[in-house]
Amino acid sequence: MSYLSKKLSECALLTESYMKKRTEKLYEEPYYKGEAADALKALFDSLEYSLYAGGKRLRPFLVMQFCELLSGSAEPAVPYAAAIEMIHTFSLIHDDLPCMDDDDMRRGKPTNHVVFGEATALLAGDALSLFAFETLFSSGLSDQQNVLAAKLLAKSAGASGMIAGQQIDLYSEDREISEQLLTLLQQKKTGALFDCSCKLGCIAAGKTECDEEYVKAGEFASHIGLAFQITDDLLDVCGDEKALGKPVGSDEKNGKSTFVTLLGEDGARERAKKEISAANDVLNSLSQDKERIKALTEMTDFILTRKN
Ligand code: IPE
Ligand code: IPE
Ligand code: MG
Ligand code: MG
Ligand code: MG
Repeated sequence: MSYLSKKLSECALLTESYMKKRTEKLYEEPYYKGEAADALKALFDSLEYSLYAGGKRLRPFLVMQFCELLSGSAEPAVPYAAAIEMIHTFSLIHDDLPCMDDDDMRRGKPTNHVVFGEATALLAGDALSLFAFETLFSSGLSDQQNVLAAKLLAKSAGASGMIAGQQIDLYSEDREISEQLLTLLQQKKTGALFDCSCKLGCIAAGKTECDEEYVKAGEFASHIGLAFQITDDLLDVCGDEKALGKPVGSDEKNGKSTFVTLLGEDGARERAKKEISAANDVLNSLSQDKERIKALTEMTDFILTRKN
């Protein structure tokens, strides 16, 4: 097992066990019994189905790695890691809906709406988007840190963040858009949650917007976010469905504008490489100690070579 895989699975384990502690609370509500429990079963099953379906857990990893890099410990960041993964999972459930990308596989399993129906999938996504905030506020960090983190999470996921990106993505269907708008699309739909992850790690480590490390975390995230979405677009064209756990050809089916349609496969690969090299420069400026940034450096490499 590589150093990165070890670190990724450690972060995933801690995040999942925290998420489980939170979702268990749903069943402890006094009204959760008898007929009401029957009525709610589909919603709870549905949100747990997607939350615990696997996934690389890269966003939790970023939250925890940044916290560890800046404070020496990743543990305080676990509730924030769980919160961003809930937001990410909500975005995936909605992204797959028939009215969006209309895809039927995700994380190697049938998509949420295929199993539970569109209406419940919609509600499970909604529920997760709000459960993320309950989870964030359950952290043992200071009120000041939680408020900063919640504002950041709301903005990053909302109408000037991920959701803005998803809307531009819809606008880009069956039409040519400029490289500038395409870059904004990618920075928003994927980059915003990467940006949020790195900065949540900084906040958990006691940093604020005024700190140099916080600003650099944002720069790092904008490069890896873009590179990550470019490789996602490449995998949609030349990936292996089994390894990917989701369908290939989804973008073509929906007439999406991507870096592959704009620059071609080679051009897109070059662009991703450039972004990763810039990300590594930012990382090296954050710490001279190669050991301390080893996991993050290996992750930037993984973004270029990943098969899923
Ligand atoms: C998929 O994200 C959606 C994009 C932003 C491209 P991931 O590739 O991180 O999905 P999981 O969490 O590993 O399933
Ligand atoms: C989705 O982008 C990004 C979000 C879910 C916000 P894609 O539509 O390219 O993601 P995949 O390929 O379905 O994972
Ligand atoms: Mg999409
Ligand atoms: Mg999609
Ligand atoms: Mg995609």
